[in-house]
Amino acid sequence: MALRKDFLWGGAVAAHQLEGGWDEGGKGPSVADVMTAGANGVERQITDGVISGENYPNHDAIDFYHRYKEDVALFAELGLKAFRTSIAWTRIFPNGDEVEPNEEGLQFYDDLFDECLKNGIEPVITLSHFEMPYHLVTEYGGFRNRKLIEFFTHFAEVVMTRYKDKVKYWMTFNEINNQANYLRDFAPFTNSGLKFPEGATAIEREQIMYQAAHYELVASAKVVEIGHKINPDFQIGCMIAMCPIYPATCKPEDMMASTVAMQRRYWFADVHVRGHYPAYLKAYFNRKGFDLDITVEDEQALAKGCVDYIGFSYYMSFAIQDQADNDGSKVASIMTHSDFKKVDHVGAPEFDYNEDTDLIKNEYVQASEWGWQIDPLGLRWSMNWFYERYEKPLFIVENGFGAVDKIEADGSIHDPYRVDYLKAHIAAMIDAVNYDGVDLIGYTPWGFIDLVSAGTGEMKKRYGFIYVDKDNEGNGTLNRSRKDSFFWYQGVIKSNGEEI
Ligand code: BG6
Repeated sequence: MALRKDFLWGGAVAAHQLEGGWDEGGKGPSVADVMTAGANGVERQITDGVISGENYPNHDAIDFYHRYKEDVALFAELGLKAFRTSIAWTRIFPNGDEVEPNEEGLQFYDDLFDECLKNGIEPVITLSHFEMPYHLVTEYGGFRNRKLIEFFTHFAEVVMTRYKDKVKYWMTFNEINNQANYLRDFAPFTNSGLKFPEGATAIEREQIMYQAAHYELVASAKVVEIGHKINPDFQIGCMIAMCPIYPATCKPEDMMASTVAMQRRYWFADVHVRGHYPAYLKAYFNRKGFDLDITVEDEQALAKGCVDYIGFSYYMSFAIQDQADNDGSKVASIMTHSDFKKVDHVGAPEFDYNEDTDLIKNEYVQASEWGWQIDPLGLRWSMNWFYERYEKPLFIVENGFGAVDKIEADGSIHDPYRVDYLKAHIAAMIDAVNYDGVDLIGYTPWGFIDLVSAGTGEMKKRYGFIYVDKDNEGNGTLNRSRKDSFFWYQGVIKSNGEEI
């Protein structure tokens, strides 16, 4: 086995993190436009609308909106075969609930995709990447409202029809499973436009998240069906943030805690791929007494709209330790039959996962400056996990290393740390194909051109092979230049991964 001949070596970005032009061309404000700049360890603030005097880094981003032609020329020089970006929903439907699309927004993506295709680069498109119309938050409460299914499918149908001969690979919701982290504000807001009522309890937040995710999964399934009617050649995938959760030790409780944690973070993929809710989640809903609006029609839609492939991001792995009071010491080392009965319910049988408290530092791996644990073998593990479970093609649509870069006096940028990270991950990826038989469509490393960090709003957390001269405060010429990693990745693509 080897990588496919038509393997899609590419690069990934999202509209709101690079386009800028946030209020140009008829575009409306998105959820990304009301998020201020944060920093390492400082959360971004979600403001009530756009407040003058605040720093909103996505408003101008790296000005791709005006510079895309020169940028695409650089992408072609890099050798990209695929360019993963998103269509900003608010360029097409500024408020999200209109019937008629904004022609200027549609034209922008026509021009962008033409420019890519002219340069031999295939656009790979995410429909919703943390940038839903802000109006849908204020007027409808985001995806907790069933009406959003209609708005999203309408948006998808319009763009899929318009670009049916220019785009083949689509994804519905970026990292839909981030919102498993419902105790924080960031993921529910960016995934689903959710704002929780003041003082909402953990269980209330959780129920709202499940409801919103359900409507998104139904919307996604409907889009898969609609898309296949528009063009049967379309490949429509989901997009999952994969951070495998290892048991901290071989203690059975740690293993069980890891299994449950994986269920809480990855059930989204089960529904996307298999078209129905897994038994473990139905049992969980029952136990928690969640009263969710899931209709028979929804279940039919889910069954009809299974995705064609699994797109996923991979940056890091996690580790979990069982947090139950009982540390397992009651388990006898040599058990008689009657002892076995006694340990039937050792520990907390629920093993309920709390993402805020249960994850522990993995002492076997290093971490980036932002605390992201570096684990290349975890990528191979993840590919095996997905492929064993679903037997559908995989597409690694994000992977990368956020780091601070230094510009030398002569303008060069030496970034061996980035190359080391990517080399190790590409090697693990190729092993998964060669040794484990995984079917892989492509690899599009994240932020191959420096852009605004989603998590912190910083510019200095850079992933790029292409440097963009802009700092956290928004100063800089916006000039683009090639880092050492640019030339390295060029060679990787040219050799189809033979030379890393
Ligand atoms: C993923 C997102 O979570 O990771 C991207 O899909 C994001 O939008 C990327 O930018 C890296 O995260 P961050 O916080 O370093 O920008």
